Amino acid sequence: MQIYNGINGLRTSLNNDRSHKRRISLVPTMGNLHDGHLALIERAKETSDVVVCSIFVNALQFNLNKDWEQYPRTFDKDCEKLRVAGCDYLFHPNEIEMYANGLDTQTKVLCPYLTDVLCGASRPGHFEGVTTVVSKLFNIVQPDEAVFGVKDYQQLIVIKRLVDDLCFPVNIISAPIHRESDGLAMSSRNWHITDDERPKVIILKQSLDWIVERIQSGNLDFFELENEATARIKKQGFDVDYITCCNSENLDFAANDDKKITVLGAMYTKKARLIDNVSVAL
Ligand code: PAJ
Repeated sequence: MQIYNGINGLRTSLNNDRSHKRRISLVPTMGNLHDGHLALIERAKETSDVVVCSIFVNALQFNLNKDWEQYPRTFDKDCEKLRVAGCDYLFHPNEIEMYANGLDTQTKVLCPYLTDVLCGASRPGHFEGVTTVVSKLFNIVQPDEAVFGVKDYQQLIVIKRLVDDLCFPVNIISAPIHRESDGLAMSSRNWHITDDERPKVIILKQSLDWIVERIQSGNLDFFELENEATARIKKQGFDVDYITCCNSENLDFAANDDKKITVLGAMYTKKARLIDNVSVAL
């Protein structure tokens, strides 16, 4: 695996690959890689000749500087995992390489409405940081395809919309949620979960599953289902940010005639904010 810190070096190699008609995939990450991230690399390898993984802890998408500073940085371990997974290029730029003109005056990419709801409501500016850095990565790498996890469902929908609206010639591939054996979605934030919280956090996934079961058995009173699931989670001692049934395509509140519904949830442990989602076709 070749490691690039600079845009120019990476572009030179990728231009060579393109001249040999190699298909290029991008897997953007912020590092601290777990098996969920590595599954995206696996997926990318299936349909491309060259897999580029980026590791960049993007300050622009963190609401609090403290969270950005405390984000786990495990570069050496990440490199080893990517080598074993068969990643070809690792792009690992620093702040100056990515935001040469400074963060305050950085040109930004906005994707209104989709980024204002759900996680966007409690993390103002977060998705603006995501859409901006992903646009930059698309322009730097110019991949044929890019792989994103269903784990961050809203992010996936926002990226699809971004590609559509700004005509990026990039095929967006979604990869399923990788889970621990009890069903907890793998996340870099899980290391914040305390030992006494760990057996209980599965309540988030269980509550989303419970809603899906009710929907499948014909209960379309989404508001009541959301309230009941919220109560179940609170009973385990966790604060709930939202539990919402949405149209899977546009994240509007679910309607009775929707063909596919995604139930999304976010809850707080003492030190982490966990998200998860489950989809159901009707
Ligand atoms: P990060 O949280 O590192 O996630 C990188 C990619 O891994 C995202 O596409 C995310 O959805 C996917 N992922 C995380 N956990 C997963 C799991 N358990 N199963 C499957 N896929 C999973 O998401 C970001 O970074 C950033 O916002 C980024 C897109 C890199 C922009 O900075």
